[in-house]
Amino acid sequence: MSYENIRLEQEAGIATITFDRPKALNALNRALLGELAQALGKLAEDESVRVLVLTGAGEKAFVAGADIGELATFGPLEAKWFSRMGHEVIGRLQELPIPVIAAVNGYALGGGTEIALACDFIYAADSARFGLPEITLGLIPGFGGTQRLPRLIGPAAAKELIFTGRMIAAEEALRLGIVNRVVPAAELMAEVRKTALEAAAKGRVALRAAKEAVNHGLGVDLATGCRLEVDAFSLVFASPDAREGTRAFLEKRKPVFRGRFKGDPPA
Ligand code: CAA
Repeated sequence: MSYENIRLEQEAGIATITFDRPKALNALNRALLGELAQALGKLAEDESVRVLVLTGAGEKAFVAGADIGELATFGPLEAKWFSRMGHEVIGRLQELPIPVIAAVNGYALGGGTEIALACDFIYAADSARFGLPEITLGLIPGFGGTQRLPRLIGPAAAKELIFTGRMIAAEEALRLGIVNRVVPAAELMAEVRKTALEAAAKGRVALRAAKEAVNHGLGVDLATGCRLEVDAFSLVFASPDAREGTRAFLEKRKPVFRGRFKGDPPA
């Protein structure tokens, strides 16, 4: 499959999707969202991929939001279809059974911030800028910004950003808890790769269980979340990885995780 608006590369168990529409600062049009959906479908079925990294082509932008040229032509029905499509694709990203890291290398505005928020965590270049500027276009966020941002930083801080459309620098995003780490732009991809490799060396079954426990636990009360954790914790014992990891510790050697369940057909 060849793509026109994104690039998909795989190396050492790490897949990288690069948003690549330089003429529009990597803005999300329908074609790009369709390609992203296809790429995520492919990655979800590829057991050799351990971690996904998302970034933007060029030095200026991660993603400058939805394509305003397309938005300008929409009536409510097209807007509903577009928003649903965005939610569907971004939901798929959030549910991907592997860690997903956003490497934000410049403007992440509107849909760009919304995509980054659906990743498991964000590393940002010191040049990165975040924001939900939809209000300045007479619109509101349509790819999850009114929902994921308040859950992450609280309703008051989120409303201030949404109501003003203000852009914030990487350091402020760090202070608010939107990003995990800010690094000099030239070091961003190396820093992300280091963390990606660290996670990629872990067992796929345990990574998936941990991600699901956190994601699904956030939407329920603590007691229900703790029960989800009990189920996820016990399920990982159905994978030889649990035996391998514990034995390797006792035998003072490095574990070799296979990322499979007992009874799975061989890869
Ligand atoms: N859609 C379409 N084209 C875009 C775009 C977008 N979101 N963002 C930038 N571009 C285009 C510009 O039109 C320009 O094209 P031309 O060279 O053909 O004129 C090119 O990219 C370069 O942009 P600028 O000249 O504007 O670059 P700048 O350095 O002066 O400014 C910027 C950079 C501050 C990011 C500015 O481009 C900007 O404000 N972009 C729009 C950001 C925005 O409002 N995003 C939210 C979109 S709505 C949304 O995302 C809805 C949702 O929730 C799903």
